[in-house]
Amino acid sequence: MSVSITKATLRAALAGALIVGWVNLGGSALADDEAARELYLKTCSKCHGRVAGDVSLRPEDLLVYVVTMPLGPPLRNVYGRPAGSFGTYPYSEAMKEIATGWKWDEEALDLWFTSSQDMIRGSTMFLKMKKAEERKTIIDYLKKYAPYEG
Ligand code: HEC
Repeated sequence: MSVSITKATLRAALAGALIVGWVNLGGSALADDEAARELYLKTCSKCHGRVAGDVSLRPEDLLVYVVTMPLGPPLRNVYGRPAGSFGTYPYSEAMKEIATGWKWDEEALDLWFTSSQDMIRGSTMFLKMKKAEERKTIIDYLKKYAPYEG
């Protein structure tokens, strides 16, 4: 049996594929994740690297591996993790002093991102995120991709 593929059939198939692709991205969690990932990459990854739970691999992510200066502690498992508790990371004296077993929950992270120095003066992280919406985006991103697992 021979199937003849006309230009019209091809066009129809292509249009179908485009529509499916568009529907998949439009308004789904994937699109939100993509925006959150962009913000994380732009704001945090240069010091903290990638969040390990986010396994998307794109050229930009690979670049992050190459250009990351590991200035900050890894953020895998950070949501819900006790402050200042990542293995052998050399935290600042200020952080060591204040990290008395409390955990990085929504409230703590929001304060930290609003102004890290106002929250823990003398810490070695300097960050001010003015927009509440962006802080929330990052918090949700960490909650999803970097939950504490003990
Ligand atoms: C310029 C580098 C830099 C940037 C940018 C940065 N951080 Fe940090 N971060 C650090 C350093 C350094 C520390 C350790 C602070 C200390 O010991 O006082 C830290 C600590 C932290 C901690 C505490 C971790 C723990 O183990 O207690 C969290 C949470 C954190 N950063 C999240 C973020 C997030 C999320 C972003 C982006 C919104 C970000 N940081 C941007 C350098 C940075």
